[in-house]
Amino acid sequence: MTVENSAVSGETFGQTDDILRAEHISKRYGAVTALVDVNLRLGRGEVLGLIGDNGAGKSTLLKTICGFQPPTTGRILLNGEEVHFSSVTQARAAGIDIVYQDLALVNQLTVYQNMFLNRELVRWPLLRNRSMRKRAKEQLDSIGISTLKSVDVEVASLSGGQRQAIAVARSVFSDAKVLLLDEPLAAMGVKEGAAILDLVRDLKDQGISIIIIAHNYGQVFPVCDRVNLLQGGKITFDKYSKDTSVEELTNIVVSEYRKALEERHRRTAAS
Ligand SMILES: Nc1ncnc2c1ncn2[C@@H]1O[C@H](COP(=O)(O)OP(=O)(O)O)[C@@H](O)[C@H]1O
Ligand SMILES: [Mg+2]
Repeated sequence: MTVENSAVSGETFGQTDDILRAEHISKRYGAVTALVDVNLRLGRGEVLGLIGDNGAGKSTLLKTICGFQPPTTGRILLNGEEVHFSSVTQARAAGIDIVYQDLALVNQLTVYQNMFLNRELVRWPLLRNRSMRKRAKEQLDSIGISTLKSVDVEVASLSGGQRQAIAVARSVFSDAKVLLLDEPLAAMGVKEGAAILDLVRDLKDQGISIIIIAHNYGQVFPVCDRVNLLQGGKITFDKYSKDTSVEELTNIVVSEYRKALEERHRRTAAS
C-alpha cells in the first residue's frame, strides 16, 4: 500500500484501531500559537518519529498528550476513548509515560532514588532501599548503559547522556503502554544513543507504542515505522518510513531552511 502525504489527504488518519489519537489540537500560550489544528495518530505497537525545526511545537504536542498541560482546543483519545488528564500522574496511571526534553530528574537525589521517584518500594513504614538499589542497577545494566559507577551517586554529578539514560530507563520500567520520548538522544554520545535505539526496538517488540522526537532524524529513521513533520505548529507530512527516506526528509528540511533564510533577507532588505 502506498500512502501519499496523508497529513493532507487524511489517508492514514482513517485508521480506527489506533492506541492514541490527538484530534484538532491547538495550543496557545497567550499571544503565541504553538499548535494549529493538529491531527496525530499512533498505531498499536508503532514507532512514530516526530521531527521538525526548533519551535515547531513538538514538545508542546507531547506535553498536551501526557497530561502536563491541556490543549486549548481539541481532544485526545486513548484506545478510542476520550481522555482528560489533569496531571502527568493521571496519564501515567492510564499507561502513557513521557521522558521530557528538559529531563525532570531531581539533581540532589541519587540515581536509584530518581529511578523510583514517586513509585518507591515500601514495606510500610520503611523504604526498601536495598531492593530499589538492586533493581535500579539491574534495570540500567539490562538496557546496556553501564557507564555508571554506582546507583548511589547524585544525579547532579552525571553527564547529560547518563542523565538521559536514567530518565529513559525510569519510564521504560514503568509499565507504560504508550511511551513519549522527547529528544532522548540529544545529550548522548554515539554508543549511548545506539543503546537507546536498541531499547526502542525491544520495547516495540514488546508491543509498546512509541512517539520519538528527534532533531537528528537520520539517527532515528531506522527505528521508525512512520514519520510526521511538524512545521509552524502544523503537521505537514505523514508517511510510512517505507514510503519515504532520509533524503526526502532532508530535502524538505533544507527547503524550509532556505525559505526562512530568504524571508530574513527580504526583511532586512526592506528595512
Ligand atoms: N510555556 C510556554 N509559554 C510560552 N510559550 C511557549 C511555552 N512553551 C513553548 N512555547 C512556545 O511554543 C512554540 C513551540 O515550542 P516547542 O513545543 O518547545 O517547540 P519544539 O519542541 O518543536 O522545539 C515556541 O514558539 C515556544 O517558544
Ligand atoms: Mg522541544
